[in-house]
Amino acid sequence: MNRKEMLYEGKAKKVYATDDPEILLVDYKDDATAFNGQKKGTIAGKGAINNRVTNFMMRLLEKEGVPTHFVKEISDRETLVKKVSIIPLEVIIRNISAGSFAKHYGVEEGIVFPEPTIEFSYKNDELGDPLINEYHAFALGLASKEEIAEIKRLAFKVNDVMKAYFKSLNVDLVDFKLEFGRLSDGSVVLADEISPDTCRFWDSETHEKLDKDRFRRDLGNVEDAYEEMMKRIFGK
Ligand code: TMP
Repeated sequence: MNRKEMLYEGKAKKVYATDDPEILLVDYKDDATAFNGQKKGTIAGKGAINNRVTNFMMRLLEKEGVPTHFVKEISDRETLVKKVSIIPLEVIIRNISAGSFAKHYGVEEGIVFPEPTIEFSYKNDELGDPLINEYHAFALGLASKEEIAEIKRLAFKVNDVMKAYFKSLNVDLVDFKLEFGRLSDGSVVLADEISPDTCRFWDSETHEKLDKDRFRRDLGNVEDAYEEMMKRIFGK
């Protein structure tokens, strides 16, 4: 499949057209940003790690009955995906308090919830991705009620699968962000990425952070954390 013109460049990925109008090529970058692009940097090797980790998770989720946009990994950093129109919602599931939840509600990080929470942000850089509820999402015309119900069902299913999988690697899945898209037939599929950029991973014993919080919070050993997650998933 030939890579044709670049259609979009995001903070962490570039998206290209291909010979097939229904298939796009995603190219993962080492660039990292935080706080809506205010903090910028590079995490060496991140693009290749996020590509491989995302594709591993998408395959696992497909096996468990979650439809995704994944088609084929074609190189270290490049993957073919089905063309979708992205539903402009960041869907965040939390199992343990951390990050903006701890800040907004004035609680410490590390409280294990009795059951997972879900929240939505409106994906809009100019507005700083504000939190919204599902009524707002419907009022703004971002998604239908049926789509919102399906997104919630799939997001909790993703959590069940991922939580159990990471526990087997001695990693607690603290929280994560998902994005969904519509295929040309209107069906909703999981899209975007699932990686240490978009999840919080804590070692189950030491609670060491093995994700992008090391970059966001200047904790050091950022590359080591990404490589450690790679090692736990794929072995050496
Ligand atoms: P938060 O605690 O900052 O709201 O983040 C919740 C989860 O979402 C965390 O695992 C990191 C992920 N996330 C993204 O993937 N992209 C973003 O832009 C933000 C703010 C968070």
